[in-house]
Amino acid sequence: MISRRRLLALGGAGLAAASGGRLLQAGLVSESASAATPLPTPGDWPAVRREFAFAEAAAPKIPLNAANLTPPLRRVQQAYAEASSRLAADVSFHHRALFLQTELARLRGLLAQHLGLADGRDVALVRNTSEANATVVNGFDFAPDDEVVLWDHNHHTNNRSWGYRRARRPFVCKVVQLPEQPRSEQALIEPFLAALTPRTRVVSFSELSNISGLRLPAAALCKAIHAARPEVFVHVDGAQTWGAIALDLRAMDCDSYSSSAHKWLMGPRELGILYLRPERAEQLQPHTVGYDYEFNYPEAGLPKGAARFECLGQRNDALFPALSAALEFHLALGPAAIEARIHALGKSLRQQLRAAGFELRTPEDERYALGISVVKMPEPAKAVAAFRNLYEQHGLYAAYVHDNQVLCDVPVPTEGEPPLAIRLCSHVYNSEADLVAAAEALRSS
Ligand SMILES: Cc1ncc(COP(=O)(O)O)c(C=O)c1O
Repeated sequence: MISRRRLLALGGAGLAAASGGRLLQAGLVSESASAATPLPTPGDWPAVRREFAFAEAAAPKIPLNAANLTPPLRRVQQAYAEASSRLAADVSFHHRALFLQTELARLRGLLAQHLGLADGRDVALVRNTSEANATVVNGFDFAPDDEVVLWDHNHHTNNRSWGYRRARRPFVCKVVQLPEQPRSEQALIEPFLAALTPRTRVVSFSELSNISGLRLPAAALCKAIHAARPEVFVHVDGAQTWGAIALDLRAMDCDSYSSSAHKWLMGPRELGILYLRPERAEQLQPHTVGYDYEFNYPEAGLPKGAARFECLGQRNDALFPALSAALEFHLALGPAAIEARIHALGKSLRQQLRAAGFELRTPEDERYALGISVVKMPEPAKAVAAFRNLYEQHGLYAAYVHDNQVLCDVPVPTEGEPPLAIRLCSHVYNSEADLVAAAEALRSS
């Protein structure tokens, strides 16, 4: 059977023989979505809001739930629809090879730019953060006395999943707890360093917690861990940071980083990333060895870099230009400007909530907070009422979260039944008026 690598080579020959313009006219490659729809001017936040379908609804349902899912940018939907139609018109190997060669090259360039990487091929395109985390959780061969260090605010996919794996084959799982109100960077780093031993193989933490909104100093933490134990593999779960902060993964010094395009990036659903430091990728075994896009397995062996985690069989290829459209949008607005806007909105919301008498689980020190604000509710019934009131009376949707996580399988002391909390995530599409309405909805519940 003809391999995809050979197909891509065929496509390449075709591409070289034709000019870009002729290919465009023939409908074989796409003009970028941003070329078709002008990008908003940096700093024009009302224009950014108009990029979303909800902004034009007669009775809009306004998102405050980016930690879970954001509405996709309209340009993302357009790019996806356009690419789907183009692919549906011709599903031959020849057409798909041309499509992929063009779209993957463009996407990898944008990923490198957005993530601060020299080469976009250091990123495996996977389904979502859950799948990327699972690749790390299940990728190592551990001895029974090998140790993994986790943060108690990690998401289930980086927490319970380690416990599930440990139940099948033993290793040691250590769970770090951090102060709810950190006073310094060191207060967030020291507990991790104290958990390291010569048996530590992996440290894995969320850069920003989805249950408290606490933001860790990821670069300082990765560097401190590697300074203490260079051999330790450090995995950063970036589900709550990709698209929300200006990232520079090379400077961060992590060994891997995972995220989903459908959260803060406002991109398509079912497309995620797993970055791997090239020299560390081979330490992990892939969970799926299927049909890939660019190599011959088993003749040539598994790829050594991130591509070893992309042997996932047939994909929904129209997602790739959709992700490119989201990345072009972020790069045009500027990741640092987006981060500053998210922080300004989050800070304003937290101020309003505290002024209304609410206690927050999110740190008071704004260096350790961003766009997620978690409000403690005095009793579970209040949390449920606020959750409903937000949506039904004010057209805003958020989430409520439990306090008690099951952590790996190590029990964490809790006093009685912990109350529920409400999580509000403010993003670049939100206005000050949304925040005033959200604070009022909670106050009146
Ligand atoms: C920190 C963190 N990791 C992983 C996930 C899982 O993300 P997904 O459902 O996109 O795979 C989430 C989802 O909220 C999360 O907050």
